Amino acid sequence: MSSEDTLNFAVIGCGGVTLQNHLPGLALCPEVKVVALCDADAATLERARQQTGVSVTCTRHEDIVKREDIHAVIIATPNFTHRSIALDAIAHGKHVLCEKPLALNHADAQAMAEAADRAGVRHMTAFTYRFVPAMRYLAQLVKRGDLGQPYHYRSCRLQDWGTRNLGWRQVKKLAGTGELGDMLSHRIDFAHLLIGPMKRLVANLKQWLPVRGGQPNDLDDWAAVLAEFQNGATGVLESSKLASGRNESWRSLDCVEINGSARSFVFITGEWNKLQTGKAGGPGLETIMIPEDFWKVPGAPRDPHQGDPLVTFRYDQVWEFVDAIRNQRPCIPSFHDGARAQAVMDAALESAETRQWMELRQLRDGIKRVVRGL
Ligand SMILES: NC(=O)c1ccc[n+]([C@@H]2O[C@H](COP(=O)([O-])OP(=O)(O)OC[C@H]3O[C@@H](n4cnc5c(N)ncnc54)[C@H](O)[C@@H]3O)[C@@H](O)[C@H]2O)c1
Repeated sequence: MSSEDTLNFAVIGCGGVTLQNHLPGLALCPEVKVVALCDADAATLERARQQTGVSVTCTRHEDIVKREDIHAVIIATPNFTHRSIALDAIAHGKHVLCEKPLALNHADAQAMAEAADRAGVRHMTAFTYRFVPAMRYLAQLVKRGDLGQPYHYRSCRLQDWGTRNLGWRQVKKLAGTGELGDMLSHRIDFAHLLIGPMKRLVANLKQWLPVRGGQPNDLDDWAAVLAEFQNGATGVLESSKLASGRNESWRSLDCVEINGSARSFVFITGEWNKLQTGKAGGPGLETIMIPEDFWKVPGAPRDPHQGDPLVTFRYDQVWEFVDAIRNQRPCIPSFHDGARAQAVMDAALESAETRQWMELRQLRDGIKRVVRGL
């Protein structure tokens, strides 16, 4: 495809994250057109149609992915649908950006990554928080060696979602896991990005509320992982929906601290343009500002001075997808990154069930083979 060609997109799933992240991100991209919308719920579909003016609408993804005028799809549906929609889209040669968690288990996520590779299409997992300017800058400092030998990775995600009904998010067969896949998956991805693959872990999950908003909840409200990485570093990851008084989304706590032989860094999503850092033996942490070059992904069409930066960084995600399609290069993060996070989630689930440490190379049979590739 030449760079002059317009890229035609379909968006499958027109709920919360599509309205907040994907459609505004796509609207900024030059030579990109949303030509079709799909949602299983007719009322949601109609609302999205009215907001966007997109004329092709459909309640079945099968009718969308077979259209020849569509080059790429975004899948933003409940977790249990990701695998089948993605495989159908890939079978029709579409490039795919799929929401996280990529699938319900590692075997499915790996199958999606392998199918996309075989088909030669671009594939991307929506680990949106990689696009926070401070995280992109931190990843670069770590890659440059500023951390020294990595000692510790620590992430803490504390929100107050109260007792309300979470819809499909509180049903195991629709969501797979609760807080583990919903929020901890992003922080597992941070750990992979900053420190590398995990070697072993022990995990615990806690469900406080068997009923949410009058409906059964069969999933975890809290998840924690204690990990050892292949490079010897330690990891402590905690995430909760029940940190009363902590507020939600970017108004709540999302913190990562890494300590290495040379220095430490602290990242807080709410402070998108700052990091805290201190050098070994130094007087304590100081705040450094993120250089303006990092306020958006290079080449991204948005003006980083426009809008709320805690919302607008999310628009860079779809730009990464578009740029990878145009330049025929792998997306970062890809389905393989989604599958790696899923392997850790599988191990965490199994650890919580069996009350045992899990070696990431010694999971139950179906996973054993593919986890070796980590
Ligand atoms: N990357 C992020 O930061 C982020 C943020 C929020 C949600 N998410 C992920 O995005 C996905 C969607 O979450 P949401 O909050 O937008 O949920 P949502 O419930 O608001 O929207 C999902 C939509 O999908 C539709 N749908 C269900 N099954 C469908 C099917 N088979 N075909 C077409 N449409 C279907 C529903 O009718 C609904 O409108 C989930 O996987 C979630 O984990 C990611």
